[in-house]
Amino acid sequence: MRTQVGIVGAGPAGLMLSHLLHLRGVDSVVVDLQTRESIEQTIKAGILEQGTVDLMRQTGVGDRMMRDGFVHHGINLAFRGGMHRIDLTELSGGRSVMVYAQHEVLKDLIAKRLQDGGDIRFGVTDTTVEDLTTDQPRITFTHEGQQESLECDFVIGADGSRTSTRFLIPEGEVRKDFFRQYPFAWFGILAEAPPSSDELIYAHSDRGFVLVSTRSPSVQRLYFQCDPETKVEDWSDDRIWAEFEARLAPAGLTLKTGSVFRKDVLQFRSFVCEPMQYGRLFLAGDAAHTVPPTGAKGLNLAMADVHVLDRALGAYYRTGDAGLLQSYTETALRRVWRAQWFSFWMTSMLHRFSDATDFDLRRQVAELELVTSSPIAAKTLADNYVGMPLP
Ligand code: PHB
Repeated sequence: MRTQVGIVGAGPAGLMLSHLLHLRGVDSVVVDLQTRESIEQTIKAGILEQGTVDLMRQTGVGDRMMRDGFVHHGINLAFRGGMHRIDLTELSGGRSVMVYAQHEVLKDLIAKRLQDGGDIRFGVTDTTVEDLTTDQPRITFTHEGQQESLECDFVIGADGSRTSTRFLIPEGEVRKDFFRQYPFAWFGILAEAPPSSDELIYAHSDRGFVLVSTRSPSVQRLYFQCDPETKVEDWSDDRIWAEFEARLAPAGLTLKTGSVFRKDVLQFRSFVCEPMQYGRLFLAGDAAHTVPPTGAKGLNLAMADVHVLDRALGAYYRTGDAGLLQSYTETALRRVWRAQWFSFWMTSMLHRFSDATDFDLRRQVAELELVTSSPIAAKTLADNYVGMPLP
């Protein structure tokens, strides 16, 4: 088999890149270890930046999102002393975010690729990538019992945070990894309940962080900060709602409760791999970087990476000029590090660290008071939350 661009991973980065390249007339094949069902059902993030929304609409995959998603013009910060709204739209000059679940984005991209005759191989095994430093790299894999060898011009490593492609960049002499661990995780639930708030609530409390998000008028997505070793079996519905209550009451908030039909523990990590390219391999999305979920940036960074890659590959195939491909790492990393800073800032302002003293809690409240009362500080939050426009 032969294609122009071989893509490892059918997540937001891989599928969107395949879609964008198709619109330019560039051929690609996407392979993924997971089945289509599992990709379309895995619960992940839910916030799309303005740039992601625009990209989906402008390239013909935004119809369901515009119908079923919810545009949010603000978020709330809650802490001792009450709740304060950050007007994202007013502060950012008219931008907003969309609440629309990641697995719905994936369903839309998969449906569109298949409708356009795209080649996606789900449930492959034994994937290897070879000859990256030649101009004819190869992906080999087993699909439906058959061994395949896919010759490409370029290979894209878009295989998520459990990536294998990242490790093809030799560590030390070429690759350097930057990371930070956090002493906490998020306990996430999906509950059948009406929304408790029109807009998301990011809440600071002495017992730790809470995020009140939503999925639809009848399904709510809520999180509370927990120990990374927390076992979901130890948390009955009653215990979960009591924990939310204990954390939100000091800010004067009560939640509408309901039956919890999903519980999960999300690990927290900040990570960047540099460079994001090696020979004919280009990394995109979580394969190259992860952010803690506090800033809701993960999916949006993946989309921004492939927007850059699409333009770089487009220029290469149109004119033979590899300049934009050569500067891919530099271009992508500017946004990546900005998002790393933002996610770290939101995380450190809102979470209780294991060694936190009363001093730290007071200092965090002072920071939250600054962000909710200074228009300049609020604008910094709003601009970064809605995201920098895609060039
Ligand atoms: C979510 O709804 O899953 C969500 C929303 C905002 C975040 C993180 C996760 O910052």
